[in-house]
Amino acid sequence: MTDNNKENILNIQNMAEIKSVGILTSGGDAPGMNAAIRAVTRSAIYAGLKVFGIRRGYQGLIEDCISEFETQSVSNIISRGGTILKTARSMEFKTPEGRAKAYANMQKHGIDSLVVIGGDGSITGATIFSKEYNIPIVGLPGTIDNDLAGTDSTIGYDTAMNTIMDCVDKIRDTATSHARLFFIEVMGRDAGFLALNSAIATGCEDVIIPEEKTQYEQLKMLIDNGFRKSKSSALVIVTESKDPNGGAMGLAQKMKEEFPDYDVRCSILGHLQRGGSPTAADRILASRTGYAAVEALLQGQRNVLIGIRNDEIINIPFAKAIKKDKPIDPDLLKVLRVLSI
Ligand code: F6P
Repeated sequence: MTDNNKENILNIQNMAEIKSVGILTSGGDAPGMNAAIRAVTRSAIYAGLKVFGIRRGYQGLIEDCISEFETQSVSNIISRGGTILKTARSMEFKTPEGRAKAYANMQKHGIDSLVVIGGDGSITGATIFSKEYNIPIVGLPGTIDNDLAGTDSTIGYDTAMNTIMDCVDKIRDTATSHARLFFIEVMGRDAGFLALNSAIATGCEDVIIPEEKTQYEQLKMLIDNGFRKSKSSALVIVTESKDPNGGAMGLAQKMKEEFPDYDVRCSILGHLQRGGSPTAADRILASRTGYAAVEALLQGQRNVLIGIRNDEIINIPFAKAIKKDKPIDPDLLKVLRVLSI
């Protein structure tokens, strides 16, 4: 294939004169990160760039855990959960000294741009690093929490939601058999997207999310009425976080005291929510955004997160993506509550 044809397919001219790109995954791993690594690697090689895999996130950049990638370096990883590059939450990168070491290693390998795959902490780190050393950096939204603003979804979110759905369906089986009330804690850090949408998907009785003040009295009534009416189980999904009622455990305890006749249990799903083979939606999102990240770099864009809105790939300035103001759709709460009567 001629270079002209390549440019037509990839829709790029190397306006930024970038010669190489380093890829790292940072923060909590998310299913689909491997598909993103594959997409960035192959798109960049296709465009004639050198590609470097950086292991263990920013910490690996500081410690020089860097090797050159070929197309085969990312063979057969699209279906695998976790991240072949490993990940870390680096405290050292938060210091100017740590970032100086990271930059020195980029220079040593001749890496002139970066693709960072991670959540808001990783994108915050990228923002500082890019400004400090004038490095072109593009981000990919890799987190199960879906808490980056401007994008409808993040890589890993759909898979985590499906994992939660499988678990909650199973809990429903046992809850119904014993006529029990369950509080189920899911991840999401300070965001309720995983909790709310998985509650809808599993027909839960209610949800407790950080974005909404817990209506404890309303919750009590809802559960009590449900059991009185004929419900043979009640499931409430609770986002991990600083809930004043003590999260899923605290709520279960309170409910036991409130309704001594009810059989109440608590289940914390934990890290199993982060694992597993990515869903088709996450693989496609990772592939599309990974390809677009290389396009963006070559077009001279920097400090942008590649997201998706209404099925269109968009570039979101880092500052907007990490603003922590991604709202929950209040209609979704209505849907959940109306359908669980
Ligand atoms: O950000 C992803 C996430 O899984 C959050 O939902 C959760 O709060 C956190 O990471 C858990 O982090 P760790 O794996 O360090 O316990």
